[in-house]
Amino acid sequence: MTAKTPDWLSQGWEHIWLPYTQMKTADLPLPVVRSEGVRLFLDDGRSLIDGISSWWTACHGYNHPHIRACVRAQLEKLPHVMFGGLAHEPVLRLAKRLSDLLPGNLSRAFFCESGSVSVEIAMKMAIQYWLNQGLSGRSTFVSFKGGYHGDTLGTMSVCDPEEGMHSLFAEVLMPQLIIDLPADKEDLADFERLLTQRRNEIAGVLLEPLVQGAGGMRFHSPEMLHDIATIVHRSGHLLILDEIMTGFGRTGSLFACLQAEVVPDIITLSKALTGGTLPLAVAVAGTHIFDGFLFDDPAKALMHGPTYMANALGCAAANASLDLFETENPLDKAKAMQDKLSELLAPCKGIAGVRDVRAKGAIGVVEVDTLKDVQWLKTRFIENGVWVRPFGNIVYLLPPLVISDTDLEYLGNSVCAVMAQWERL
Ligand SMILES: Cc1ncc(COP(=O)(O)O)c(C=O)c1O
Repeated sequence: MTAKTPDWLSQGWEHIWLPYTQMKTADLPLPVVRSEGVRLFLDDGRSLIDGISSWWTACHGYNHPHIRACVRAQLEKLPHVMFGGLAHEPVLRLAKRLSDLLPGNLSRAFFCESGSVSVEIAMKMAIQYWLNQGLSGRSTFVSFKGGYHGDTLGTMSVCDPEEGMHSLFAEVLMPQLIIDLPADKEDLADFERLLTQRRNEIAGVLLEPLVQGAGGMRFHSPEMLHDIATIVHRSGHLLILDEIMTGFGRTGSLFACLQAEVVPDIITLSKALTGGTLPLAVAVAGTHIFDGFLFDDPAKALMHGPTYMANALGCAAANASLDLFETENPLDKAKAMQDKLSELLAPCKGIAGVRDVRAKGAIGVVEVDTLKDVQWLKTRFIENGVWVRPFGNIVYLLPPLVISDTDLEYLGNSVCAVMAQWERL
């Protein structure tokens, strides 16, 4: 603990448990006292350009005045009210707007507070949809290696069993069918065979479209996504697209599925839904899924209801964020960022140990054979004034969509400079 450590950090440190962190050897986290635009300001006066948008949320940058004003106005009126039997304007407006923006018949929004829970809800929707039709036994999901859908018990079961950080829990996880993401026509034929042969066991197919994020920022093409969706639907199954990371412009379109002209049966959204300000998530179902719950029997209703679902502040923030997609054109910036990131990160291609350099929308990736000395890398990035958090075998940039060319260049150049030093370790 240094003399500069603020009291709130030194006094609270003994009482906190950090995510994904071995607390025995954990370094103190950086004390952040303020954020603005793409910058985080530290207690000691330093500032960092956030290269990863606070776990992929802050699409409009931090403290956007419009989101702040809308949340403040909502706070004065109604911060929260239970969603059972009571309703408020921000959530109904948000549901209608999402339905207007999403493709096809995706029009029934079920809100909750975190991405993992929205995936749990989507999985429950799929399982109960079949049960409500009198088809029992359809409770297994097909998902893909390299996939990540959350940290709760249900979602852990559909993550990559090796890379999803959850192998420790293998014995308690529901068995699922986790397969390689098809790469060619032959794989697609195998995929279709599996879906046909196991028809009566499968509740749905779950995929992060175009980019598998936490599994290593692996990309697949819109054509492959289209082929996968066609097979899922042709074989009579439900497709759940997890757009928690890809949604709201990250891949260059408002939703990744739009690039492949694919309409899933259920879509999950979170992260940038509120522009990175408040926790909110949603599973939006197609009308045919919703209709599959309409019976005289109350027991056939969707059996879920988180206490803080549809939180009014979160919904006000999400509506404000959607306003900004209409007024500030961040999608054009996301599209343009793909070429800029490719160009900026290109020098990493010559570095020994670098396997691939790629960009998709506003995501830039440097993939290495083995990410030796991660802590060293993290420290060098901070010394360079950037917040970049390598994981697995990648160093990646996923900046706020609104980042200026100058700040983006600074981020890209910092990654190249630090990786050039890393090569010599
Ligand atoms: C694709 C995807 N699904 C689900 C989740 C889980 O979301 P949360 O951390 O809000 O539970 C994440 C989080 O990184 C994600 O990237």
